Amino acid sequence: MISNYNEYKNFIIKDVSHNDQIKIQELCNSCVDYFLISQGKPATGNEAQEFLMVLPPNKTFEDKINLGIFNIAEDLVGFVDLIRNYPQNGTWYIGLLLIDSKARRNGLGKYIIHEIIKMVKKDSGEKIKIGVLIENESALKFWESMGFVTTEKSEIIFEGVNRSIYKMEYQIL
Ligand SMILES: CC(C)(COP(=O)(O)OP(=O)(O)OC[C@H]1O[C@@H](n2cnc3c(N)ncnc32)[C@H](O)[C@@H]1OP(=O)(O)O)[C@@H](O)C(=O)NCCC(=O)NCCS
Repeated sequence: MISNYNEYKNFIIKDVSHNDQIKIQELCNSCVDYFLISQGKPATGNEAQEFLMVLPPNKTFEDKINLGIFNIAEDLVGFVDLIRNYPQNGTWYIGLLLIDSKARRNGLGKYIIHEIIKMVKKDSGEKIKIGVLIENESALKFWESMGFVTTEKSEIIFEGVNRSIYKMEYQIL
């Protein structure tokens, strides 16, 4: 999907698929902090397949985009999945952005979100949305630094448990 990506410090963004499932799972395994917040335990082994397969109601794989950030050695250091035209036409919804814990605070999250913003603009999209668990304070700071604003606090059922999230959005100019 991203064909004209810019390289950043020798990292590149590429589409990922089931062929990369092992690398995505290894990335999940390395992000213990995130999975402790989201599911109360480290990754268990099925997360990569779930991220690759998960679709909101009434959406198809036509609108699902899975991207990876690779370093020069082809190691996967980041993953993001997003859905085009969800929940409304013109809105893109980010499912999860995950950066390897050893590669954080190096601008990689910012890099991939800037590339996604360009991609949404090119598609004439108007908004990018995300839901952030309220306990995930570092992620909230990250999204705020990227220009996302909180529109409401909401309750959802996440992994079978009632959770509070901040709904955040970025308005494409
Ligand atoms: C949130 C996450 C994606 C950020 O990725 P990253 O590559 O480390 O972020 P960047 O280096 O591009 O940071 C950009 C800016 O965001 C803010 N930021 C990022 N992480 C932060 C933190 N832990 N605390 C405070 N601010 C933070 C800073 O303003 C930072 O700029 P600076 O480094 O110049 O100060 C990463 O920490 C991660 O994968 N976390 C676990 C998964 C997760 O929570 N995903 C989001 C789910 S909603």
